[in-house]
Amino acid sequence: MGRELKEVVVVDAVRTAFGKAGEKGIFWRTRADDLIVPLLKALMERNSKITPDMIEDNIWGVTNQMKEQGGTIGRVVTMLADWGYEIPGCSIDRMCAGGLSAIGFGATNIAAGMVDCLIAGGVEHMGHLPMGFMRDPHPNAEEAMGGPSALNMGMTAENIHERFPEFTREMADRYAVECQRKAGIAIKAGKMKDMIIPLEVESADGTFMIAAEDQPPRPNTTMAALRDLRTPFKENGNVTAGNSSGLNDGACAVLLMSEDRARELRIEPVMRWVASAVAAVDPTIMGTAPVPATRKVLKKAGISMDDIDIIEMNEAFSVQALYCLDRLGLRWDDPRVNRWGGAIAYGHPLASSGPRLVAFLAGLFNENSNARYGLTTMCVGRGQGYSIIWENLRTKTR
Ligand SMILES: CC(C)(COP(=O)(O)OP(=O)(O)OC[C@H]1O[C@@H](n2cnc3c(N)ncnc32)[C@H](O)[C@@H]1OP(=O)(O)O)[C@@H](O)C(=O)NCCC(=O)NCCS
Repeated sequence: MGRELKEVVVVDAVRTAFGKAGEKGIFWRTRADDLIVPLLKALMERNSKITPDMIEDNIWGVTNQMKEQGGTIGRVVTMLADWGYEIPGCSIDRMCAGGLSAIGFGATNIAAGMVDCLIAGGVEHMGHLPMGFMRDPHPNAEEAMGGPSALNMGMTAENIHERFPEFTREMADRYAVECQRKAGIAIKAGKMKDMIIPLEVESADGTFMIAAEDQPPRPNTTMAALRDLRTPFKENGNVTAGNSSGLNDGACAVLLMSEDRARELRIEPVMRWVASAVAAVDPTIMGTAPVPATRKVLKKAGISMDDIDIIEMNEAFSVQALYCLDRLGLRWDDPRVNRWGGAIAYGHPLASSGPRLVAFLAGLFNENSNARYGLTTMCVGRGQGYSIIWENLRTKTR
């Protein structure tokens, strides 16, 4: 029996501000599930033609699925939002690409006709559930993955520096300075305002505040300041707090629909899903995996890197971003890449970063009607890469 696939569109994307993990973080006294609930409500408020009863699934990427992030958070949060018992939900894990995978699974589920409208997102409270918390790796895991450095993300970045010495500390620092600078310009220009849902939160001192701005960016970062930072993962190494993404808390949610259903409701979607691809590499250099994932997705989409107008690449570390850009044939400062800055500035609350890339791309498509194709791509601990290509529906020429 032949079947037609449905076109899948992004209608909207919202996120919390990103906080620093730990006691000085804006979300220290806020639970991970309480980061999600306001996003679900905001999606309904911002898209008045959609009501909670239309949401047919709620898929959430979460890396550490225990304590407040456990118990199938995707199922529970809709009930916490007072949406009743009838909205299914699940949690999935592909570490950093958990949220991007949630969007990928959501897109293919819609394309296959399983559902017409769903929410996919990612959340990570790294302050409450630090990386590796309660992990119990198999005794043979280190050996199977090529050595102990496979389990330490900072060391995987040091490994890239060591194996590919053409990417120097100076280049990594310069990339980080530029990332912070671009983020500073975007923030000042108000680009984050439309996607960040302000949350009232309790501060560490017991007073209440509105969390409406990202806490990690340091737009005035200089090469001189970065040069003196220590290299915590390796003595005399190259990876520092300045050229790495940080440890962060945050959530991001994306509303996906079949294009047919969106048009029926007279909703103007932002972008259409074109193709997804996932690839895997040596876990000790996990940050290189966006390269095969992107080559694969370009092939599936039948286009080349030259056709991509906007690139949102997650920067777990400067060096892995530099490697990926170079191997994909792009300059380190290609103007199509991370125009509003990336994770080195905004932070990287693991599973929420993929949906953040989608939210940034949606914002950039909205204001760049000449751009047709966009790429969201990221690396994943244990050596995976995940890439999705999108088509702008706000394009003038179409
Ligand atoms: C790199 C890492 C260990 C640093 O952690 P940290 O030491 O708690 O980081 P901090 O924010 O306190 O920064 C350390 C120092 O660098 C300084 N610093 C950080 N960024 C800076 C910048 N852009 N400019 C100037 N100084 C900077 C801080 O001010 C701080 O200085 P201090 O010690 O004098 O206070 C941590 O961010 C990390 O593990 N990152 C990687 C996360 C990861 O693996 N994610 C998954 C990816 S796959």
